[in-house]
Amino acid sequence: MGSLFPLSLLVLLAAAYPEGGSARRRRAARTQGPGGSSPAPFWVRISPEFAAVRPGSSVWLNCSSSCPLPDGSSLRTQLRRGQTLNGTGWVSYQLLDVRAWSSDVLCLVTCAGETRRATARINAYKEPGSVILEPPVLVGSEYTLRCHVTHVFPVGFLVVTLRRGGQVIYSESLERFKGLDLANVTLTHAFRARPHDLWQPVTCHARLNLDGLVVRSSSAPITLPVRAWSLTSTALASTSIAALVGVLLVVGVAYLRKCQLMQSRE
Ligand SMILES: *[C@@H]1O[C@H](CO)[C@@H](O)[C@H](O)[C@H]1NC(C)=O
Ligand SMILES: *[C@@H]1O[C@H](CO)[C@@H](O)[C@H](O)[C@H]1NC(C)=O
Ligand SMILES: *[C@@H]1O[C@H](CO)[C@@H](O)[C@H](O)[C@H]1NC(C)=O
Repeated sequence: MGSLFPLSLLVLLAAAYPEGGSARRRRAARTQGPGGSSPAPFWVRISPEFAAVRPGSSVWLNCSSSCPLPDGSSLRTQLRRGQTLNGTGWVSYQLLDVRAWSSDVLCLVTCAGETRRATARINAYKEPGSVILEPPVLVGSEYTLRCHVTHVFPVGFLVVTLRRGGQVIYSESLERFKGLDLANVTLTHAFRARPHDLWQPVTCHARLNLDGLVVRSSSAPITLPVRAWSLTSTALASTSIAALVGVLLVVGVAYLRKCQLMQSRE
């Protein structure tokens, strides 16, 4: 009849701990007879839970728990590891050369046979170094605007918008660019202006929309040059027409290296 005891204990434990089948079995296996007690619940924390860093830089994550004597503690990540520091109840991990736009990091602590986890997210981004709108070029009745957005990452989350007065004249989302480097982006847009458009300043806006964190930068305003003959020809155009659009992307690997060097000296 003694062999019935472990079975009924297993069922009892299963009712008390509905989560984690394997942990449950391990706990049941460790419990020795009816006098055994189940382990006290414990917590695992990772700090910070969210970090936004410059591409190529490193970050420290501190994983702590309330377990007095952990059986084990580990970190799961795609990122490259650096140094590790530890103390009672915590381990701090250095992660190097963060380049992916978004990385999830998992900290696992096992206490008395039960494993708990905490997750952190690391994002890498770089706000534009500058947003520069070149003086417009007028050919025939068409203005060509060229906007440069420099040293930006991740380009796939960038939207470049041209505005005249309060109105959007052109906007482009660059989500098709998946590169893992800082980049220079040049947006080219040609259009016909109506005479009354000519007095309104034109600006170029770069917006990085990073999962809720929005980073904006804008160029200085410029005014479209007016010539007598261009006024006559543009007067014929009833509306602004996007005639030519182009995006030029220059990937700044050389710059990124320099950027990292500068950071490691800081
Ligand atoms: C890690 O976190 C623990 C608990 O919050 C703290 O006592 C310890 O000083 C931290 N270690 C580092 C290196 O920040
Ligand atoms: C830190 O880690 C080392 C190596 O794993 C271990 O021997 C030491 O006991 C740990 N120190 C603390 C305070 O947990
Ligand atoms: C990006 O633009 C900046 C400023 O115009 C320039 O100094 C840098 O060389 C450019 N990088 C590349 C890779 O073209």
